[in-house]
Amino acid sequence: MGKVIVVTSGKGGVGKTTSTAALGAALAQRNEKTVVVDFDVGLRNLDLVMGAERRVVYDLINVVQGDAKLPQALIRDKRLETLFLLPASQTRDKDALTTEGVERVVNDLRRHFDWIICDSPAGIERGATLAMRHADMAVVVTNPEVSSVRDSDRIIGLLDSKTEKAERGERIEKHLLLTRYDATRAERGDMLKVDDVLEILSIPLLGIIPESMDVLRASNIGAPVTLADSRSAPAMAYFDAARRLAGETLPVTIPGEKRGLFGKIFGRRAA
Ligand SMILES: Nc1ncnc2c1ncn2[C@@H]1O[C@H](COP(=O)(O)OP(=O)(O)OP(=O)(O)O)[C@@H](O)[C@H]1O
Ligand SMILES: [Mg+2]
Repeated sequence: MGKVIVVTSGKGGVGKTTSTAALGAALAQRNEKTVVVDFDVGLRNLDLVMGAERRVVYDLINVVQGDAKLPQALIRDKRLETLFLLPASQTRDKDALTTEGVERVVNDLRRHFDWIICDSPAGIERGATLAMRHADMAVVVTNPEVSSVRDSDRIIGLLDSKTEKAERGERIEKHLLLTRYDATRAERGDMLKVDDVLEILSIPLLGIIPESMDVLRASNIGAPVTLADSRSAPAMAYFDAARRLAGETLPVTIPGEKRGLFGKIFGRRAA
C-alpha cells in the first residue's frame, strides 16, 4: 500500500506546486512508483510545472465523478517511467470533488503506487481540507516570513483535527519544508531565522530549499527542478528532503552556510 502525502501551506505562492513536482520526481528517480495529484481545481498548475499541459484529457474530477477510469486520466512522465500525474480541471466547479469520490480515488491510487503526493490549493477552505483528508503524512511548506509561518500554524491545527487520521484519534506525521530561503536576506535580518520558524511550528524539519533562479528556469521548461538540473542547489535540497521522507536520517544544511544545523549548534556551544 502506498503512502499518501499532502503538500500544504495555508498561504498561497510559497512553493507547494514546485515542491510537489520536485519531491514527486525525486522519489520517482529513486525508482519508486510515484503519482503527483493536483487538488488545485480551477488553477491547474501542476501539469504546467510537470510539462504535461498539452496531454491532459481527463482529470481528477472526471475520475471522481466516474466519467473516466483512473488509467485514462493518469499521464506518464515523458522522462521517467516511474512518475505519473493526475491533473486537475481548469474550468469545472470546485464543489464537484466529493468526499466519498476523493476517498475512492485515493484508495485506488494507494493500491497502484508507492507514493501519492497531493498538491493542495492555498487557503484553509474545503479544497485544502479535501486534499489533506486521507493523508498519512503532511509536508508543510513555509517561507521564512511571519505571514507564512502563521498560516502554516493554522494548517497544522487543521491537520490535527480535520483529517481521517485525526478522526481515528491518531496523529498525522507532519514535516516542515522551509522554501525560498535566502541566505543574504536572512543574514541581514530581513527574514525569520530557521531556529525561530522551528520554535514556532515545532514540527520536524524535512529540508531547507534555497531561493534560486534554477526553480524558475525549471518551471519555464516544464520540468521538476530535480530533473531539469539535478546538480543545482534547490534540486540537491529536494533530493535530500525526499530521502528523509523515505525514512533516511541525514543532517540538514542551511543553504549558503557551509556547516549543517548540527555543526551550527555545536559551533555555538564551542564558542
Ligand atoms: N526555491 C524557489 N526559488 C525561487 N522561486 C521559487 C522557489 N520555489 C517556488 N518559487 C516560485 O514561486 C512561485 C510560487 O510557487 P508555487 O506555484 O510552487 O507556489 P504554490 O504554493 O503552489 O502557489 P499557490 O498557492 O498559488 O498554489 C512560482 O513562480 C515559483 O517558480
Ligand atoms: Mg500551487
